[in-house]
Amino acid sequence: MAKSPIDLTGKYALVTGGSRGIGRAICKRLAEHGARICFNYLRNREAAAQAVKEISAVGPEPLEIKANVADETHLENMFETIRKEFGQLDILVSNAALGVLKPVTQLREKDWRWTMDINARALIPLAKRSIELMGGRGGSIVAVSSLGATHAIPFYGAVGASKAALEALVRHLAIENAATGVRVNTVSGGAVDTDALKFFPNREEILNEGLKRTPAGRLVTPEDMADAVLFLVSDLARMIHGQTLIVDGGNSIVA
Ligand SMILES: NC(=O)c1ccc[n+]([C@@H]2O[C@H](COP(=O)([O-])OP(=O)(O)OC[C@H]3O[C@@H](n4cnc5c(N)ncnc54)[C@H](OP(=O)(O)O)[C@@H]3O)[C@@H](O)[C@H]2O)c1
Repeated sequence: MAKSPIDLTGKYALVTGGSRGIGRAICKRLAEHGARICFNYLRNREAAAQAVKEISAVGPEPLEIKANVADETHLENMFETIRKEFGQLDILVSNAALGVLKPVTQLREKDWRWTMDINARALIPLAKRSIELMGGRGGSIVAVSSLGATHAIPFYGAVGASKAALEALVRHLAIENAATGVRVNTVSGGAVDTDALKFFPNREEILNEGLKRTPAGRLVTPEDMADAVLFLVSDLARMIHGQTLIVDGGNSIVA
């Protein structure tokens, strides 16, 4: 394979929810290309320790922080650590997500608030604090979304709405910050077989249907998502602002 034209040496990246699944694959892909990574996670320390090992095996040793993206105090402490350790930031990948999986009419107010808080609202302080650490030198922000932002998926009402809000925020952040060299985009994916799917009562159906509906003939992998993020944070995407890049093997365009 030809050598990658992307070199992130000297760049500092924050990947939220980087300890498992798609986030871990993104950390590894950016680290392989030279970026120094900080990732955070919510609860699972063993997964975070495993991620540190895997990232260190392919690139610079990462910084690992336990912090809830929906908690302002946690964010303040996390960014203070990044400022002390890195002194700057060039890339933010807002990937962490959780959510309540229920039919819409069964959602309680707290289910809605919790899901929106983590999946959509968190991008606001994350972007604000990251842009401050970009220090006017420009940078790249990528939010990770899913087809539920535009398609109805059983039990996915709250998460789908949060992802639609996330994608809208991305477009607004993009036009508000383009003049200072900060690009903001979304990578959205079809079903990826990560731990997240274990919480769906219809996991098997999602995977089987996803496979059947995908013209490319296989499901999306965490690495497929990571490659799209790598492209968007690279200089190859220098004129791409506010877009949603869909990684789904053609699933969403099938009639
Ligand atoms: N899986 C799919 O089918 C699919 C498809 C398209 C898009 N996506 C999107 O891709 C992203 C990653 O999904 P995934 O499937 O890789 O998820 P996952 O395997 O469940 O991993 C989620 C990661 O986010 C962290 N996290 C969750 N809530 C957090 C919070 N409040 N604060 C900080 N960290 C938090 C988790 O930390 P702990 O381990 O400590 O809990 C973990 O590192 C999400 O945005 C998801 O919506 C997923």
